Amino acid sequence: MQVAVITGGSSGIGQGAAFELAKRGTAVVLTYRGGRERALETVRRIEKDGGTATALPLDVARTDSFAAFREALTDVLRQWDRTTFDVLVSNAGVGQPPVMFEDTTEDLFDQMVDVHLKGPYFLTQALVPLLEDNGAVVFTTSTSALESARPTPGYSVYASVKGAQVVLTRYLAKELSVRGIRVNAVAPGVTRTRLGDDAFAQYPELIPPIAERTALGRIGEADDLGRVIAFLGSPDAAWITAQTVEASGGYEL
Ligand SMILES: NC(=O)c1ccc[n+]([C@@H]2O[C@H](COP(=O)([O-])OP(=O)(O)OC[C@H]3O[C@@H](n4cnc5c(N)ncnc54)[C@H](OP(=O)(O)O)[C@@H]3O)[C@@H](O)[C@H]2O)c1
Repeated sequence: MQVAVITGGSSGIGQGAAFELAKRGTAVVLTYRGGRERALETVRRIEKDGGTATALPLDVARTDSFAAFREALTDVLRQWDRTTFDVLVSNAGVGQPPVMFEDTTEDLFDQMVDVHLKGPYFLTQALVPLLEDNGAVVFTTSTSALESARPTPGYSVYASVKGAQVVLTRYLAKELSVRGIRVNAVAPGVTRTRLGDDAFAQYPELIPPIAERTALGRIGEADDLGRVIAFLGSPDAAWITAQTVEASGGYEL
């Protein structure tokens, strides 16, 4: 049985990845920060469909908690007769409120760096000894980080840390290739999730103008991204490494 660890699996894209991986027979360890109930509900839905899953708490901004998280993960793996796992989906993240460069505070900057760069960097470092040779890492970055993106004023910190994930993907792909581990990233376009305080549920009027700027005529759904993540983690992507795959339905094409 293949095992995947998904950070931020209690909501949105990570939850979509959890469902898609579970559908393919992969056991899932999904993490949550504040959304314990949503995480447990995700586990229940996977189990109801015959899959295997469990949920663990994790704050990726707290590097001092990673050793304990690795212990908790080791315990779960032991219950599943495993000492290693196969796929790490480094997905947890938060949006930033629109803030112009001149008004950006160190607090916001540090929060974005901790959640999207420092946390994923050192969490991967902590977990890579448990990652099976020939396994896979998938980061969730963002189209805002891509050279093809038209920069939106107010998002310089978020886009910068997401850009760092694109670079990290390439450097880790090189270093971990000696163990056959593939490292890729998915860059979602605008996707209907709870990001930004559940912005799309609160302000549905935001959706049509974005859909108009998207070649395929709608915004993304969590399962659109979940399928891409499941693919990048699977043997079907065995010859793909160091890539960032845009999955945006052709945003601003
Ligand atoms: N939605 C989009 O349009 C979009 C576009 C491009 C990229 N992305 C990226 O996609 C990823 C997933 O976001 P989403 O859109 O699916 O948003 P979401 O629905 O808000 O889900 C975010 C997930 O990350 C977890 N999380 C947040 N902060 C965390 C922390 N400090 N430590 C551990 N877990 C934390 C949340 O856990 P709890 O809910 O349990 O607190 C939740 O499971 C993020 O990296 C985001 O930047 C999203």
